[in-house]
Amino acid sequence: MTGATTPVVRADLIGLLRSDLTAAGFTLDGIAQRLGPVASAALHREQSLPALLATDGADDPCAVLVRLLTLGRPVPSDALAAALPSLGVEGARALGLVVDAPRGDVRATCDLRPYADDAHEWWVASDLSEVATGQTLRPDHVLGIGGASTTLASWTIRRPVDRALDIGTGSGVQALRLASHCDTIVATDISDRALAYAAFTGALAGLQLDLRQGDLLEPVAGETFSLVVSNPPFVITPRTDDMPLFEYRDGGRAGDAVVRALVRQVGAVLEPGGVAQFLGNWEVPAGRTWRDVWSEWLDEQAREGVALDAWVVQRESQDPAEYAELWSRDGGSLPGSADHSMMYAAWLADFAARDVAEVGFGVVTLQRPETDRPTWRSLDRAAGPVAAPMGPAIDAGLRARTWLAEHSDDEVLDVAWSCAPDVTEERHGRPGADDPSVILVRQGGGLGRVVRAGMVLAAYLGVADGGLTARAALDAISGLLDLDAEAVRAELVPQVRDLVADGLLR
Ligand SMILES: C[S@@+](CC[C@H](N)C(=O)[O-])C[C@H]1O[C@@H](n2cnc3c(N)ncnc32)[C@H](O)[C@@H]1O
Repeated sequence: MTGATTPVVRADLIGLLRSDLTAAGFTLDGIAQRLGPVASAALHREQSLPALLATDGADDPCAVLVRLLTLGRPVPSDALAAALPSLGVEGARALGLVVDAPRGDVRATCDLRPYADDAHEWWVASDLSEVATGQTLRPDHVLGIGGASTTLASWTIRRPVDRALDIGTGSGVQALRLASHCDTIVATDISDRALAYAAFTGALAGLQLDLRQGDLLEPVAGETFSLVVSNPPFVITPRTDDMPLFEYRDGGRAGDAVVRALVRQVGAVLEPGGVAQFLGNWEVPAGRTWRDVWSEWLDEQAREGVALDAWVVQRESQDPAEYAELWSRDGGSLPGSADHSMMYAAWLADFAARDVAEVGFGVVTLQRPETDRPTWRSLDRAAGPVAAPMGPAIDAGLRARTWLAEHSDDEVLDVAWSCAPDVTEERHGRPGADDPSVILVRQGGGLGRVVRAGMVLAAYLGVADGGLTARAALDAISGLLDLDAEAVRAELVPQVRDLVADGLLR
């Protein structure tokens, strides 16, 4: 099945394609308007029928391009000629975007869809999905924009930097996003087909990506970057002969070894002050916690590599059966089929062989300190909704954690902190009771932290408006409540640090 075509970059044609797509309204807004809210929302859920019905028989350029490039349907050659007036059907053929189909139609060889951030609109090329082709995926399938791509893009810090690296670039979607704030982008992949797609995506955006083939950090050995991102092939996959392997999700290693390898190796390519962010799954053996697992990984990293700060946010965890159910459906196999049952059983056996009780999923942020200060670690759980985009909160959290690592408790007390505007308080108590039995402090943005506060912390947050140092405010509260000021400070400093780290105090 290998060797299927990928689009090719032709400098003389790519600009014509860009202007035709724009003129056709083949943009996020244009497609949303053309399809209407119901079909658009269904398409986001990978349900193509409403969009097919909404464009059936239509010959307007946007509808023709949606049917061809997003829904994978053949379209009449003359309709495509009208939709791409400068490029023409010949040009689309020369770019490797379309081939002839029966009855004078043409069909797409790949998926092409618009993608945007606040300030830019691009297009991302990838293989057609199984929804479009109705076939199970090829082992070297190049994935389009998925939930994981969007999560990583949302959590990425968007500092303007010189050199950035995207490991496992696939369609090139993360590299596109990096282009809005990084001067030079190196993007790697083990798959030549993926690199061809990334080259096309990049060229269509008018970008020069430095594309390199190879395993994880191999292609950039000896180089350094200010920002490294990766949505790696982190899916834990049984290594049995009958298990279909997909390059996009399986890095060819047993268990969670790809993510562990990234943790071990990535420090070597980070400049001082540089940050690496990636997604991952991790196995948690019976009798241990996900924090135990990460402490061991980070200890190993610190022993063997460059010292790094680490902020791991576990977003969800699944038991082995839940994980097997999720991934044996991926790629097109249907629950109840022999294939699906075989894979489900293989996943269960694989996890049982390593005594895995749960699998965590989350976002990892590693930072190389600029000085030789001690490193910090934050291992947080955030299962609920978080800010979107999450990058600004991660950026602020990195800076806050670094500041906290560099300052003593006395220095923390000497700051006049302010309670962030997105923080609210809930008081719960028995009916008729004078005092609340539970006070919850809730963060509206960021990680959406909910902290149970005692009376002193709640009182402090009530007066933390940037006017008084924490020391002065806590001493005043101690006086009012007739408490020992030194004991109150000692108890509250770790709580203040915790709230500063996540931006509830700033
Ligand atoms: C989940 S896809 C991510 C694609 C894209 N970056 C995104 O965010 O949507 C993972 C990519 O990693 C590539 N890959 C798989 N194994 C790899 C390895 N050992 N080293 C580098 N890339 C690898 C796959 O070919 C695939 O393109």
